[in-house]
Amino acid sequence: MKLPKVVRRNRPNASAFLELTERELCRIVLDIHDGPVQDMYAALSQIDALQKKLVSPDDQDRPSPEAVARSLTQIGALIQNALWSIRNFIGAFAPPEFQKRDLVSVLEGLIIQHEELTGCRVELAITPPIPDVAPPVKIVLYRILQEALSNAYRHAGTDRQYVHLYSRSDGVGLEVWDEGAGFDVERVLTQAPADRRMRVGLRGMRERVALVGGTFAIESRPGQGTHITVWVPGHAGRQ
Ligand SMILES: Nc1ncnc2c1ncn2[C@@H]1O[C@H](COP(=O)(O)OP(=O)(O)OP(=O)(O)O)[C@@H](O)[C@H]1O
Ligand SMILES: [Mg+2]
Repeated sequence: MKLPKVVRRNRPNASAFLELTERELCRIVLDIHDGPVQDMYAALSQIDALQKKLVSPDDQDRPSPEAVARSLTQIGALIQNALWSIRNFIGAFAPPEFQKRDLVSVLEGLIIQHEELTGCRVELAITPPIPDVAPPVKIVLYRILQEALSNAYRHAGTDRQYVHLYSRSDGVGLEVWDEGAGFDVERVLTQAPADRRMRVGLRGMRERVALVGGTFAIESRPGQGTHITVWVPGHAGRQ
């Protein structure tokens, strides 16, 4: 398959991008460990101590109802604190990151990461202009590209993948393809896998696209590569 005539964009520096995500990841792991995990440990040990006192054979050791209430208040505060930290993480990482960066930069970042982690080469073609899209649409395109690249890497037996992002008057189109092993789409989509493992990738792509009112198509044949075509409405809700 030939790439269409397009404008290629300069990509951000790959190692700088990875370094940033690696640093971010370390910080998140440490924050979670030092924050909510420690609060949960403390809450568990207080529950343990309270339990032991409540079943003590010695009347003297058994706590009064007021003392139990005080312990429960402390345990509640620890759990509350852990929840607050976790909610803060969720709030800090998911939506704003996507909202700040435009669709092209989000998809480029993903491709760079995929290339670095797998050693594959992804030919990215962008036909401008790419309109702003609402965050849910951006997330759908991001997740589909992520899964399509991962499938090509895991199943196609080739180290080269192709991506084309373009706009139409009514939305944004994304095509992802490879020239690898291919597969019998009908058989894969209708038959349960032999190993009883759930296959969520292709089904997830279809469902995500349907959620934002777009269309999804997959073409593949053994020995002839795989081609995924997605269209999503891009003007219904701009950022
Ligand atoms: N690009 C591709 N090249 C070759 N075969 C593919 C490709 N994409 C999908 N397939 C085939 O379709 C099957 C279903 O893909 P799907 O993404 O739904 O599940 P999966 O990748 O096996 O598991 P997961 O649930 O982790 O995504 C794959 O197991 C593979 O046989
Ligand atoms: Mg998959």
